[in-house]
Amino acid sequence: MSKYNMRKKITLIGAGQIGGTLAHLIALKKLGDVVLFDVAGGVAKGKALDIAQSSPVEGFNISLIGTDNYEDTKNSDVIIITAGVPRKPGMTRDDLLGINLKIIKEVAEGIKKTSPNAFVICITNPLDVIVMALQKYSGLPKNKIVGMAGILDSSRFIYFLSQELEISTDKIKSFVLGGHGDTMVAMLDSTEVDGKKISQLVDEGKISKAKLDEIVERTKNGGAEIVKYLEKGSAYYAPAASGVEMAESYLKDLKKQLPCAAYLNGEYGVNDLYVGVPIIIGSKGVERVVELKLSKKEKQNFDHSIKAVQELFNSAKKIDPSL
Ligand code: APR
Repeated sequence: MSKYNMRKKITLIGAGQIGGTLAHLIALKKLGDVVLFDVAGGVAKGKALDIAQSSPVEGFNISLIGTDNYEDTKNSDVIIITAGVPRKPGMTRDDLLGINLKIIKEVAEGIKKTSPNAFVICITNPLDVIVMALQKYSGLPKNKIVGMAGILDSSRFIYFLSQELEISTDKIKSFVLGGHGDTMVAMLDSTEVDGKKISQLVDEGKISKAKLDEIVERTKNGGAEIVKYLEKGSAYYAPAASGVEMAESYLKDLKKQLPCAAYLNGEYGVNDLYVGVPIIIGSKGVERVVELKLSKKEKQNFDHSIKAVQELFNSAKKIDPSL
């Protein structure tokens, strides 16, 4: 709990591009007091002060501080982790494994003592493996540690579809599951546009199968496309918005169904692995993993994605046998 009456305390570990955007969005949405933590303490302090100075204009009344001391993050209600290095052009998310694994170990040590009851959202890549390592390193409950990826991938997919079909995004229902990498699975059989199955739109000639496949591919490469444009760093506005949606569902007990990297213990036939699936997020954390009926093709693609995550986790174990 925050030092200010009943306001919630939200700590952001990593005050880089995503961390700063998270702080800004959380302030604008008045979700709680914000502690921005970074090994580069000056960056955290500078961003916190900058956003705080917009409070008279924006009309929010929350506290924002920057720090490089874990004591200041004590008893957080929510922690969102973006500490790590982002991709450079030509790199895959998996290329970040060695360096971000070390960083996440340090973060896990920092948060497990100070905020054992927090709901922890990890954004650092390679997502599925880093969130799994975070849970193992910290020992925090599995239903209180989740990874942000599926909302972002789904949001990209829906946006691209809306542009192609010239229809508003809120008329499209779809989601992307599996690992947050090249093997992610757009759930075409569950994709609906204004109440119609996407396959029906293909049959009606509203969108060609080739165009749909192209959009699926573009979604898979959605992050890389932005990395290429930016040249330095990776996407941050849409990732931050997606992380905030998860935090809000927890803090307000909204019980939203959201695609996130969650710990699977038999669901979808997967054991002891974090991977992207629909979950219900409420005040108890991950309240339920929603098991959808997958078509044969979707199941095949999902299993292929699980295999890729498992293989990357095996590589992580080679780097750090304590995992
Ligand atoms: N503890 C706390 N913060 C750290 C640590 C650490 N051990 N190591 C690095 N950081 C901080 C850096 O100082 C930097 O400010 O993490 C921040 C990362 O910010 P950016 O480099 O701007 O990266 P960002 O775009 O925010 O992405 C962060 O999220 O989506 C993923 O692939 C992305 O893994 C990357 C992460």
